[in-house]
Amino acid sequence: METRRTNSAFSLCLLSLSSLCVFSLSFSPIDNYLVDCGSTVDATVDNRLFVSDLSRVESHLLLASSSRSVQLSDRIYDSARVFDRPSRYVFNIRDQGTLMVRLHFRQFNSSKIDFDDAQFHVLVNKYVVLSNFSGGHKMSSPVVKEYLIPVDTEKLVITFLPAKKSKFAFVNAIEVISAPKDLILDTAQFVNGDKVENFDGLSKQALEVMYRVNVGGPKVTPFNDTLWRTWVPDDPFFRSIDVSKRVYFGGRIKYRDGGASREVGPNNVYGTARVIASTNASIPNVNMTWDFPVIDGYKYLIRFHFCDIASISLGLLYFNVYVNGNLAYKDLDLSFVSGYVLASPFYADFVVDGDDLGVLSLSVAPSNKSMAYAIDGILNGVEIMKMNKPTGILDGELCEGLILQSWPRSNTSFLFALIAAVCVLLSLSVFTHKKRNGMKNSVAWSKLPTDVPEVDSNHGNQQISGNL
Ligand SMILES: *[C@@H]1O[C@H](CO)[C@@H](O)[C@H](O)[C@H]1NC(C)=O
Ligand SMILES: *[C@@H]1O[C@H](CO)[C@@H](O)[C@H](O)[C@H]1NC(C)=O
Ligand SMILES: *[C@@H]1O[C@H](CO)[C@@H](O)[C@H](O)[C@H]1NC(C)=O
Ligand SMILES: *[C@@H]1O[C@H](CO)[C@@H](O)[C@H](O)[C@H]1NC(C)=O
Ligand SMILES: *[C@@H]1O[C@H](CO)[C@@H](O)[C@H](O)[C@H]1NC(C)=O
Ligand SMILES: *[C@@H]1O[C@H](CO)[C@@H](O)[C@H](O)[C@H]1NC(C)=O
Repeated sequence: METRRTNSAFSLCLLSLSSLCVFSLSFSPIDNYLVDCGSTVDATVDNRLFVSDLSRVESHLLLASSSRSVQLSDRIYDSARVFDRPSRYVFNIRDQGTLMVRLHFRQFNSSKIDFDDAQFHVLVNKYVVLSNFSGGHKMSSPVVKEYLIPVDTEKLVITFLPAKKSKFAFVNAIEVISAPKDLILDTAQFVNGDKVENFDGLSKQALEVMYRVNVGGPKVTPFNDTLWRTWVPDDPFFRSIDVSKRVYFGGRIKYRDGGASREVGPNNVYGTARVIASTNASIPNVNMTWDFPVIDGYKYLIRFHFCDIASISLGLLYFNVYVNGNLAYKDLDLSFVSGYVLASPFYADFVVDGDDLGVLSLSVAPSNKSMAYAIDGILNGVEIMKMNKPTGILDGELCEGLILQSWPRSNTSFLFALIAAVCVLLSLSVFTHKKRNGMKNSVAWSKLPTDVPEVDSNHGNQQISGNL
């Protein structure tokens, strides 16, 4: 193991203040937990402080020695916490509503554990977010899973369960962040064949982010995003056609009250696009189409991001938007929906049933109102989110209850690392806590052993456990 950098209290303090400055200008989430799992020291990534889950445990509960930790250096992907039995993190939630949850996984070479034995399920509250998951492959880049979870309790519980006794679960880092209230509104348009109807209750759905794409532009990293998201270029999904071109806008995006906010999409996303342009008297009879592979059997939320950064004046841009070949938005007049301001962002949410083709195809095309010598279609960004099944499943076949039953109570010892932060950056602390609501539907969780702290070393694991 390498020698690791340790922060003095003083430098930690400066760091916290500077990151507070950077982010207080925009969105400051009430709940903001960044956890560097299995690490003995905190890690700073893009000005964000990921606190070690180990260093914040009250010392009398710290049962494993740091030499057992699975880590290489001080970056979040070079350490992991490994669980060979069901274990959970409990986060106090002060701001109920939608929480953004990001789980970071990366297998790495370790003499202490064999990542071939990683196979596990992950629950976030009652939602099954991953099942039979292996955490990616050793040679590949990190896997980041992102969810938007509706929370109406005071706790958010992330449970890791090995798929079998011979397997283990792991995680490298966890983010739990309050989402801005305007990020997921309650109503979208349900595109059902050629009918478009209201879809209500969106804010009560758990969502998994499948694709987040910056159309016509470069990758946007968490450093440059208002909510620390990653937006990838659209090239792999775009069916290339001659008449479309990329546009880039050097000016300021004009965010308006009532329009898409800076948190819905940052400058870097709205400032680039692909457009269909007519340079002569005829309007091109073409579609710009993007194809996204999806898993059947789920509903999907599709968010189109538009911002007219290409027209020379207002009132010239009209186009149609299609989802899976169905007309979702006819004669979209971007000047009207963005309050007659150019370069002002707008987004539209649609819900569809993932069809049998395994692909969502999204198109933008000139409409009957499109004009010659003008821009006749535009798209700046798109997000596709998988919606939980009514049983709470976002992955696999089994619901929460059945997954918990796969670990009989006698084999069960739970880890309670309650992470509570009053001031996240300075005083984040971890302590054990009584099991509480949110788990009451499950037999497996209702009668837990209430005695010994326990550490298990079958896999050379490091675990924190404690009195319930
Ligand atoms: C990990 O181990 C494999 C084979 O055991 C080796 O091919 C690979 O280069 C190693 N990766 C790193 C990053 O050391
Ligand atoms: C942030 O965005 C700027 C300008 O768009 C770019 O030059 C810079 O490389 C980006 N930084 C990161 C870390 O992505
Ligand atoms: C208009 O321009 C397109 C290509 O930009 C071309 O294919 C088309 O033939 C032109 N139409 C006329 C009427 O000139
Ligand atoms: C564009 O896509 C829509 C929906 O799939 C289709 O109805 C229309 O014919 C397409 N237009 C062209 C020119 O391909
Ligand atoms: C465009 O106009 C034609 C002719 O009026 C009509 O048949 C067609 O349905 C219209 N297309 C759309 C997408 O509104
Ligand atoms: C995991 O895979 C096994 C074997 O393929 C299957 O029986 C089990 O139902 C799966 N578990 C979940 C939670 O999907």
